[in-house]
Order: sequence, then C-alpha cells, then structure tokens
Amino acid sequence: MKIHVINGPNLNILGKREPEIYGSRSFKDYFTELQFEFKSAELSYFQSNIEGEIISELQEADDNVDGIILNAAAFTHTSIAIADTIKAIETPVVEVHISNPQAREKFRKKSFISPVVLGTISGFGLRSYNLAVKSFLD
Ligand code: DQA
Repeated sequence: MKIHVINGPNLNILGKREPEIYGSRSFKDYFTELQFEFKSAELSYFQSNIEGEIISELQEADDNVDGIILNAAAFTHTSIAIADTIKAIETPVVEVHISNPQAREKFRKKSFISPVVLGTISGFGLRSYNLAVKSFLD
C-alpha cells in the first residue's frame, strides 16, 4: 500500500519550532523511523510552506497513491482551497495534527479540513502519524 504524507507550513522546522508543543525532533529523522516501523507500506513524504504547492501535490498524489496523510498545519484553519481539493480527489485523506488544536487557542478550533476527510488524529505528538498509517493498514 502506498501512503503519501503531506506536511504544511513550518513543519520543516520541527525540532526548533516551539519544542514545548511540537517536540525536539526533526520530521526527517522521525520519518526514517516511521518507514522502518511500517516496512510493508510504501511511505513517501512532501512538505511545503506554500498553499498552492500542497494543492498541486494532493492532485498529483490522487492518481499515484492509496492513501494520503495530511497535516495542513496553519492552513487547516484557513484554507477552503485545500478542503475543495480533498473533496475533488478520490484518494482517502486522513488529517493529522501533532498537538491537539481543540485544546489550544480559539482560532485553532476551526478546521476546514475535518469535514472532508476520512478521519482526524490529533494530540499524540509525532505518534499521530503512526496512528494514521495504522488506520490505513488495518
Ligand atoms: C498543527 C496545529 C496547527 O494549529 C498549527 O498551525 C501547526 C501544527 C499540529 O500538527 O499540531 O502548524 O497542525
């Protein structure tokens, strides 16, 4: 099974970014471990700080993978365009967050992504991604 992980803005600086919230590990380091844990899945990874690039990546992945794990980061709370793309493609998308946005500032409680995805996993640190991979494999 091919699973594509798409990360949005500022997730390229995990490790340095607010470590008390997001931990002190870089995503690349963590992703190597994730690939090792799920050897039976073909895991690939894309990150962008640019909304349009995330939209293009979702469109492109649609013909090429079986599942998408999306952490749209701050675009979660703003992007109707990303939500429209998820609605337009056929590949199932699981929304992931490292922190629990519902337990944070008010502006993080709104997700444009949640209503259009298969499910949402948040609040388990980087392990949210492990759980999302499992949700596809089970
Ligand atoms: C995040 C939560 C968002 O509110 C925030 O803007 C992020 C990261 C998370 O993974 O916890 O950049 O998506």
